[in-house]
Amino acid sequence: MTYDFSTILDRHGQDAMAVDALGDGTGFFPAKPREGFDSIPLWVADMSFATAPSVVRAMQERLKQPHFGYYQPRDEYFDAIIEWHRTRKGVSDLAREHIGYQNGVLGGVVSALGVLCSPGDNVLVHSPTYVGFTHAVGGHGYNLVHSPLVCDKDGVWRMDFADMERRIVQNNIHAAIFCSPHNPCGRVWEKREIEQAMELFERHNVYVVSDEIWSDLLLDDNVHTPTQQVSDWAHEHTVALYAPSKTFNLAGLVGSYHVIYGSWLRDRVVRQGELSHYNAQNVLSMHALMGAYSPEGAAWCDELCQVLSANATYAYEHIRSRYPGVRCARAQGTYVLLADCRDWCHNKGISYEDLVRAGWDVGVTWHDGRLFNCPGCVRIAVSVPHSQVVEAFDRLDRYVFV
Ligand SMILES: Cc1ncc(COP(=O)(O)O)c(C=O)c1O
Repeated sequence: MTYDFSTILDRHGQDAMAVDALGDGTGFFPAKPREGFDSIPLWVADMSFATAPSVVRAMQERLKQPHFGYYQPRDEYFDAIIEWHRTRKGVSDLAREHIGYQNGVLGGVVSALGVLCSPGDNVLVHSPTYVGFTHAVGGHGYNLVHSPLVCDKDGVWRMDFADMERRIVQNNIHAAIFCSPHNPCGRVWEKREIEQAMELFERHNVYVVSDEIWSDLLLDDNVHTPTQQVSDWAHEHTVALYAPSKTFNLAGLVGSYHVIYGSWLRDRVVRQGELSHYNAQNVLSMHALMGAYSPEGAAWCDELCQVLSANATYAYEHIRSRYPGVRCARAQGTYVLLADCRDWCHNKGISYEDLVRAGWDVGVTWHDGRLFNCPGCVRIAVSVPHSQVVEAFDRLDRYVFV
């Protein structure tokens, strides 16, 4: 490894929610561990790794120019995104005019829905559901209609196309959020699955908001297919959202962007984003993106994916071989695993709440599945050095799954 993914960073007191925001275990925030245990942050979706050196260097270079007035994004910003999508996602038709800044991917989701829906309209999502969709969509007055993903006999999460179609028709739906790769299921959709979903959406005039924030974090040999590339219809009727934040641990810098090919849709989403006057980029975040989407950033990302693949394999194998009754799909992308503990709790006669707390007590700071519309499950983010993954499972063996 050229880059360091093994040092355990001390993020305490360094503006890191993952370690400093622990509370009493109510709501979004897990509980602090009991005396004698440190917390291993496996909950909020960021990483306990330093970002790529090229990101830090790009910001340092900019800091040498001590003026931070109003500015316009540089050509190099757009060039970096175009090159990243060409080399990492196989996209050859992306041009500057298709790209637009978004203050967070969730901000982009809300802007897109502001164009596609009226308050009270129904929006299709899959469940389990990323908690940010639940809050952002519900908070803006739209109703989420959940189509459950189904874990098949081989332990692979699948879309239920018949269920999606039924819900679209019954609820008069014209907008869907498609999470690809899927958080929290860790699924990297195959091209034919995306094609089938887009055919369904086309048949029923459902515009698509495709959240591809996780699309650089591919485990093992999995390949991401951009939603817009599967058909001409998908190309023109999809708002795709991306960011370097998950890939390079930059969520605190904020700096996402949309890709929209269809000019009607693009003009409307851009206008909607402008209305708030909040949708403005930060100059350091622009430079961070240029450092990230560079040849060195790509090399760093490749190594990161190897580290995450090893962590995900370890976690998956450990759960499968040691915790009878706990079901877990092999993550194909992202760095999150969803472990279904319902049978285990039932067999042991313990409540799900007690199980979640037993983990928190010993510093296995996982995330409560109820936040993801998935009661009885825990979400485990393996975005920590491998030694901490091993330590977390060692504690689960000794104190939790006993
Ligand atoms: C699927 C998905 N979309 C969006 C976000 C948040 O993106 P942003 O911070 O850019 O709003 C997350 C963060 O975990 C996520 O998992």
